[in-house]
Amino acid sequence: MCGIMGYTGGGAAAKIVYDGLKRLEYRGYDSAGISVLCGNEIKTVKRLGRVSALGGLLGKMHGGTGIGHTRWATHGKPSDENAHPHNAGVFSIVHNGIIENYSQLKAEYFSDENFLSDTDSEVIAKLLDKFYDGDLTSALARVCGLLRGSYAIAVMCAKSDGFAVAKRGSSVVIGYGENENFAASDLPALAGLCKNVAVLNDGDIALLTANGVAIFDENLQGVIREIVPNPATPADLELNGNPHYMLKEIREVPAAIERTRLSYAYVESSVKKAMEGVDRVIITGCGTAYNSGLAAKRYIESFARIPAEAEIAGEFRYKNPVITPNTAVIAVSQSGETADTVEAAELALSLGAKVIAVTNSPYSRLTRCADVVVPVEAGCEICVAATKSYSGQVTALYMIARTLAGSSVQSSAEIIAPFPALCAQITESEDIDGLADMCARSYGTYFLGRDIDYAVAQEGSLKLKEISYVPSEGYPAGELKHGTLALIDIRTVSVFIITGKSLAGKCANAVEQVLSRKGKAAVITNVAEVAERFKGRAYVVEIPSCDEWLSPLVSSVVLQLLAYKTALLLDRDPDKPRNLAKSVTVE
Ligand code: G6P
Repeated sequence: MCGIMGYTGGGAAAKIVYDGLKRLEYRGYDSAGISVLCGNEIKTVKRLGRVSALGGLLGKMHGGTGIGHTRWATHGKPSDENAHPHNAGVFSIVHNGIIENYSQLKAEYFSDENFLSDTDSEVIAKLLDKFYDGDLTSALARVCGLLRGSYAIAVMCAKSDGFAVAKRGSSVVIGYGENENFAASDLPALAGLCKNVAVLNDGDIALLTANGVAIFDENLQGVIREIVPNPATPADLELNGNPHYMLKEIREVPAAIERTRLSYAYVESSVKKAMEGVDRVIITGCGTAYNSGLAAKRYIESFARIPAEAEIAGEFRYKNPVITPNTAVIAVSQSGETADTVEAAELALSLGAKVIAVTNSPYSRLTRCADVVVPVEAGCEICVAATKSYSGQVTALYMIARTLAGSSVQSSAEIIAPFPALCAQITESEDIDGLADMCARSYGTYFLGRDIDYAVAQEGSLKLKEISYVPSEGYPAGELKHGTLALIDIRTVSVFIITGKSLAGKCANAVEQVLSRKGKAAVITNVAEVAERFKGRAYVVEIPSCDEWLSPLVSSVVLQLLAYKTALLLDRDPDKPRNLAKSVTVE
């Protein structure tokens, strides 16, 4: 959701910022721009489209300090004018977040002035120019005091060395180099550039020059933030021979499950302690993270017999939720930065719940507010659509549910142990090209299952629609006859996930209902009788038999590959689907 990057030092700022923006492109790719301090003049280039659109424009941008931006449009359409940086007087700024009171600020301070863009961000540059009296930091503090909403801002001033950053809500990581320093929205931008990093707190303002970084709180008192080794490595960014990050990351599912299962042992006792006396659990998240919560609900209720609900974070935070001191909220987020999820977690904390974060990002906002952090060890995920992080989340949530049920960490880890190999078998062998072709030609694709297979159906549907744009819906198979059946005809494909023996017969009835209405059907199953029954009548994908509860780990890989292959057939970019961004740090 917009990425910002800043550099100051002896290197070529334009190139360093450009490379950093390319690594942050998963946060938005509607437009991009860079400003460089060339002597005491700021030069800016910005363009509609991807970061690569700037490639040929940087030739005359010589200088050691620069800031840049890759945009996911919120206020103002994607265009050259609305691209950041925005400049006013001696200032150039880039912004990630939403300034909620930008119209009031414009009316109050600039009623007679023209703005060059429709963004909420340009007013920041104008305000800086208005309040500047020779000191960048105090002008920035004054402006931040007026802003409502969320922001990570990088500011360059033609009259100062280096650049400044400020943050509230949206994240900023500082990178400490040797005679050079960096700031970025996220760690991948800093991979291989610096050994140490620090995460800024809300309200912080940092002034970066080649020789050092000074950090202040909102009252401009100097503060110290913990400096830790930079966990991002250039290897995280390699495609390793894969044509896309999505395929690379699907192939990394086995490693994500393995690392997550092993690392849980280090947090099990904290989970146990936090969950003491808990009589109700709410799992919250957005998108794929919410879908992993659907599986967790079933785990917690079945294993621990504790009532559990899965709630979409953006709904939960505004519904005045019922929380008692014995409620635990599990907030699930790959990035740990999704605004709705972090704010749902903060709300739950303020109402007295225990909050457990399940996240792939160890230094994220979510980790800083939660009582306990259960790591998802999926490694850096770059494709906008989540794949290996889903598998890691399901693994972690399964282990949490078993802890709640009083099972030992060893026994849970043993049940999961075969799954990396089972998933590797799928990524290397499953033939679903014919099914991808059916989906690509379909008018609509429906994903159906019962119980734990329904949770996976939701994720399969999300994956397909987000990267192939084929209209799709995930539905409980039993509900088919109460609505979705009206949509079924020869142009539709219904993909059934059938992994549990006990409900296989019931689900098979739904397949028959689709076939008898001339709908096309596919069955992804590890139940031999089901496979036998539908061979020749439906597209059958046989998957290995496994522990019933953990079948989502296997079936989700088939659905991820299906979405990937369908997207390729339709000539979509699977890594950067239109209109989407990976880290949605605004509401
Ligand atoms: C965005 C992405 C989804 C992702 C969701 C939640 O909408 O496009 O792929 O599942 O955010 O992200 P999180 O980082 O909180 O898991």
